[in-house]
Amino acid sequence: MQKKIEIQPAKGKLGVLMVGLGAVSTTFVAGVLAAKKGLAKPFGSVTQMGTIRLGKRTEHKSPLVKDFVPLASLDDIVFGAWDIFEDNAFDAALKAGVLDGKHLLPLKEELTALKPWKAVFDKNVVKKLDGTHVKQEKTKWDMALALMEDIRRFKQEKGLDRVNMIWCASTEAYIKPHATHANLESLEKALKENDPSVPPSMIYAYAALKMGIPFSNGAPNLTVDIPALQQLAMQTGAPISGKDFKTGQTLMKTILAPGFRARLLGINGWFSSNILGNRDGEVLDDPDNFKTKEESKLSVLDTILQPELQPELYGDLYHKVRINYYPPRGDNKESWDNIDIFGWMGYPMQVKVNFLCRDSILAAPIVLDLVLFMDLAKRAGMKGMQEWLSFYYKSPMVAEGLYPEHNLFIQQMKLKNTLRHIMGEEPITHLGLEYYE
Ligand SMILES: NC(=O)c1ccc[n+]([C@@H]2O[C@H](COP(=O)([O-])OP(=O)(O)OC[C@H]3O[C@@H](n4cnc5c(N)ncnc54)[C@H](O)[C@@H]3O)[C@@H](O)[C@H]2O)c1
Repeated sequence: MQKKIEIQPAKGKLGVLMVGLGAVSTTFVAGVLAAKKGLAKPFGSVTQMGTIRLGKRTEHKSPLVKDFVPLASLDDIVFGAWDIFEDNAFDAALKAGVLDGKHLLPLKEELTALKPWKAVFDKNVVKKLDGTHVKQEKTKWDMALALMEDIRRFKQEKGLDRVNMIWCASTEAYIKPHATHANLESLEKALKENDPSVPPSMIYAYAALKMGIPFSNGAPNLTVDIPALQQLAMQTGAPISGKDFKTGQTLMKTILAPGFRARLLGINGWFSSNILGNRDGEVLDDPDNFKTKEESKLSVLDTILQPELQPELYGDLYHKVRINYYPPRGDNKESWDNIDIFGWMGYPMQVKVNFLCRDSILAAPIVLDLVLFMDLAKRAGMKGMQEWLSFYYKSPMVAEGLYPEHNLFIQQMKLKNTLRHIMGEEPITHLGLEYYE
């Protein structure tokens, strides 16, 4: 038996701080409220519906994840958010157009009460939006202090025990790591000097981590992928995870590619196109913002297929990703993948995937799981990068020198084995020889 890690109990209320109150956030909040009222099931959520096998197959022990690890209950979650628009969660959800009015009406009172605080915003980073509900402090440093004040006030007013921050705001324009990101001192100096190398997402993350609050990054922005904020997370004992929720087309990619790789089917082309009509799609219509997303979407195949180990199968793979803003579809994205594969004696074949997905419906359970698992990590004393949550991300964070694991099934094994490990259970290796001895 492994030694169980000491985990603080999930007592009291858990505040969930969402940066951005758009399609994903409002769908997440509405789903949690509906689940609490027994109006909907939390489909897609590992923390609510997943099971975990313990011990040998002959023992038939597979409890629900939420009965195995001490997670916060949905009844103890309290929502808070920042947005650059003043709309409350009910109006924002109606505008996002993900959920039907008939599903939102029974939740109207709670959703209307969720009003965003003024945001930290920089038009240079998201050119397509004109936010009016924004903080006016002079420096980025003062902005960070103002965010910390919002958090303290929220904690006090709602009588919260713990809080947790998750970035669900628009994708920021692509930036490369900068000298100011190299360590905490240089980042703090840059905040005070209003240096353009520090985008809003880093200011939010700084505020959270400074207070020891877990931070998850649902968008492909650089944000906590910089040494300065990783140092801060280690100093204050805050877990960090990211980046870019794995939904839709990339989810399919990381389900299919491991299968081709396992059966040694070659691939010489993978063309992915999308049409998307929500605000996220509009923001991604700007080439600078699309570049951030493109980098994240393109990265998944390499580490699954390992062309350096299998150059004959994957060395010449042409991988292209396109996102087209197409307003009539709203949040109901449609994606097409054409995959040119080859098999025995090099004979070519094609796989076509046409996924009519609902982006925020796929993202909402990820938000819930991340918030609850990050809270668990914090209570279990797990600080810094949480690689075991790679399962939820398109570009998982990993320690320097490691390649990220993109294969969904390895990610799932990693997640479940981490849960077993922290609860003092043996990890499951799937070896199984003992059944035949
Ligand atoms: N929906 C998915 O499946 C999915 C998958 C992966 C990643 N994401 C990412 O999640 C994020 C949210 O997606 P969405 O569909 O909800 O987008 P959305 O446009 O509906 O919502 C984003 C919200 O963030 C607000 N915002 C922008 N900048 C802000 C700032 N600095 N501070 C506070 N609020 C700010 C916007 O006003 C908007 O209300 C995007 O970055 C998207 O790329 C979404």
